[in-house]
Amino acid sequence: MLNIVDLTKEYKNVTAVDHLNLTIEDGEFFGLLGPNGAGKTTTVRMISTITPKTSGDIVIDGESIDRNLTTIKAKIGVVPQQNNLENEMSAWENLEVHGILYHIGKEKRRQKIAELLEFTGLTERKDDLAKTYSGGMKRKLMIARALLHEPEMLLLDEPTVGLDAGARRKMWDLLKRLKSNGLTVLLTTHYIEEAEVLCDRVGLINKGKLVQLDTPLNLIEEVGKVTVEYFEDGKTHEEFFRTREEANTYAGTIEGEVRIRPSNLEDVFLKFTNRRVES
Ligand SMILES: Nc1ncnc2c1ncn2[C@@H]1O[C@H](COP(=O)(O)OP(=O)(O)OP(=O)(O)O)[C@@H](O)[C@H]1O
Ligand SMILES: [Mg+2]
Repeated sequence: MLNIVDLTKEYKNVTAVDHLNLTIEDGEFFGLLGPNGAGKTTTVRMISTITPKTSGDIVIDGESIDRNLTTIKAKIGVVPQQNNLENEMSAWENLEVHGILYHIGKEKRRQKIAELLEFTGLTERKDDLAKTYSGGMKRKLMIARALLHEPEMLLLDEPTVGLDAGARRKMWDLLKRLKSNGLTVLLTTHYIEEAEVLCDRVGLINKGKLVQLDTPLNLIEEVGKVTVEYFEDGKTHEEFFRTREEANTYAGTIEGEVRIRPSNLEDVFLKFTNRRVES
């Protein structure tokens, strides 16, 4: 279990993460959804101990990272937002280096590397240099690397950013397989559909603060399951309703083009922050 308690990161001119509190249960697939600059990467980097926190605490299975850094590092696998592969090395070599750093014995290392290359569909390309990989393949290799030391929890920072629609769907399938294997996952994203499709619970984050936290369905129901969207005074407006009937009645009062559609997490975000996630 991961407990984030009052976690704060202050840079000179900005509070990137502002008293963040959340708990992620074992086996849960948790999403942090927020726009550019919301503080997602900073949060992931603090949990992965790359960025020092200003205050607050990060506790994994009852142990604070301030006191048990080594134990905690072994428990988490990290897939950063930016590619940090060794580009002049092959996929196999990238994994080999990580395995050695994590003191995995030779035989076990070979077996795990082969297994993870198979899992991520990279076996045939295992001897090619990482720099020759596509964006999606690089991301998969980073996931394989993050899983090599058998962590309990995986931190995925924007795993599908920059991928085309097809590659994104393939990545979702891979992440769903991880989910069904029972791994605990903290994913950050600014893609609405990604959060809705994959996550058991979603925390909406804006300007370093947690705005709302619940299952996607509960968040949507709280705002209203049906959205009436219309264009007026040069911009798009949304109103939210509990039922289709209420939405229909309201839509009848609008002149001009009106669309009635199911609400999504973008609407929830908009309602609570007056801002869009995907912009
Ligand atoms: N090293 C740094 N020095 C100063 N400010 C920083 C630094 N890193 C991040 N920030 C600021 O902290 C805030 C949060 O940034 P962060 O990268 O965590 O956002 P994000 O939610 O991951 O955004 P994106 O969706 O663009 O990846 C931003 O205002 C950013 O400019
Ligand atoms: Mg980021």
